[in-house]
Amino acid sequence: MPAPRTAIGVCYGPRCSDFGSREMAEELKQLGLEVEALDCQSLCPHAPAIRVTDRFIHRATVERVTGYLAQKAQESQAKKQA
Ligand code: FES
Repeated sequence: MPAPRTAIGVCYGPRCSDFGSREMAEELKQLGLEVEALDCQSLCPHAPAIRVTDRFIHRATVERVTGYLAQKAQESQAKKQA
């Protein structure tokens, strides 16, 4: 059974777009991740803002997003084994 896909919310607001959020969204899609476009999240000073599962990553990069996903997957696996 394939792992469930994680919807990632990428802010497409003007400030985050200026800081590359739309290009990051395309990179994340190319990695096979489901990406949802979001309006401004009032996190503009922390642009680009990307929501991953239960939290927003400030000044996001693709590496920070994928790292967080890997961390959550490890935590989930550890819970299953406990
Ligand atoms: S433009 Fe992205 S949080 Fe405002």
